[in-house]
Amino acid sequence: LPVPLGLARSLARRHGSRTLVGVAGAAGVRAMAGRFIAGEDAADALPAVRRLWKDGIATSVDLLGEATVSEAEADAYRDRCIEVLRTLSAGSARFPARPLLEHDQHGELPRVNLSVKVSALTPHLRAGAPGRGAASAAPRLREILRVARDLHAHVHVDMESLDHREAVRDLTLSLLAEPEFAAGPSAGIVHQAYLTDAAAELEVLLGWARRTPRAQPLSIRLVKGAYWDHEVVEAQQAGWTVPVFTDRRACDREYERLTDTLLDHADLVRPLIASHNLRSVAHAIAAQRARGLEPDAVEYQVLRGLGDPLAAALAAEGLRVRTYCPIGDLVAGMAYLVRRLLENTANDSFLRAHASGT
Ligand code: FDA
Repeated sequence: LPVPLGLARSLARRHGSRTLVGVAGAAGVRAMAGRFIAGEDAADALPAVRRLWKDGIATSVDLLGEATVSEAEADAYRDRCIEVLRTLSAGSARFPARPLLEHDQHGELPRVNLSVKVSALTPHLRAGAPGRGAASAAPRLREILRVARDLHAHVHVDMESLDHREAVRDLTLSLLAEPEFAAGPSAGIVHQAYLTDAAAELEVLLGWARRTPRAQPLSIRLVKGAYWDHEVVEAQQAGWTVPVFTDRRACDREYERLTDTLLDHADLVRPLIASHNLRSVAHAIAAQRARGLEPDAVEYQVLRGLGDPLAAALAAEGLRVRTYCPIGDLVAGMAYLVRRLLENTANDSFLRAHASGT
């Protein structure tokens, strides 16, 4: 590490990622970011992505970026998404088939998989933005879905902070219900277990899946949630009830309960278990086996750089695994790194181990 971890944390909190890049030095940051980020753009990331495919690990590529504040930036993000879909599709041609990764009990699974953020597709999702709402993201997301459908790729819509949840969910599900997308593309959404109303929210997603037959069932990526600090601080400042569990064990228990519910509906939706927590993952594997679900019926997902050994171990067990691969330049990459650093203290030991080269 170019700067001690504690200093990195406090600099990041106080000054943000741009200043941190300046302090830490571009070369040091680039070296560290390389563990987490697959490349600066799709062409740059393609070799890393193909290496994972070769090892039997599927990928989802995510474009890093800073907050979208104008329509022009939202257009640029849409164009970059389309460029990623095209570049990866071209790069996947003639790549040897990996049956466990490319088929499941519902049928064929696309090799090219892109994760997108609705807040990057419109400047109007930000708190305080004029005409706040996701409506202006719809045409851009529709265009991405069309390209994905035509290229036979998968689009996964990330979930953001709670104040965006309804907009992200309603936009995603309403577009996927449009007749032009009934036959594809394969698509999915993210569900956050740290919210105290997560069980009810999962019922909303399952209810939609029951009412909306599509050729490709909805994929639901179960995560704990990346905005814990934000949700707590915002609620406390506004005097609201805190919407997330404040006890780690309660959050972990909820994750296990939601895993059970998701796996009970593996005939209706595609369950994706995204966690680096060995207990959470072990619970999912046990639940999968207890239900007699085939190895391809559940997908395990990790973040590049944080879950690589876990991904390799799960793949060696014959389970379906996907690594989430961010793509972006140095400043965007640093912002992503800082978020991961601040996300939970369990990352400290990981980063220390890697910083000292072990
Ligand atoms: P671990 O078991 O260590 O859990 C850490 C999590 O616990 C924190 O992230 C937080 O949710 C929760 N937590 C922390 N302190 C707590 C406390 N005091 N009380 C209760 N709970 C507490 N996230 C997201 O919001 N939207 C997304 O779209 C995605 N996408 C995504 C894709 C993939 C492939 C992965 C692996 C992860 C994500 N995430 C995400 C991130 C995810 O929500 C989560 O932050 C990290 O995976 C860390 O959680 P683990 O289960 O891995 O670790």
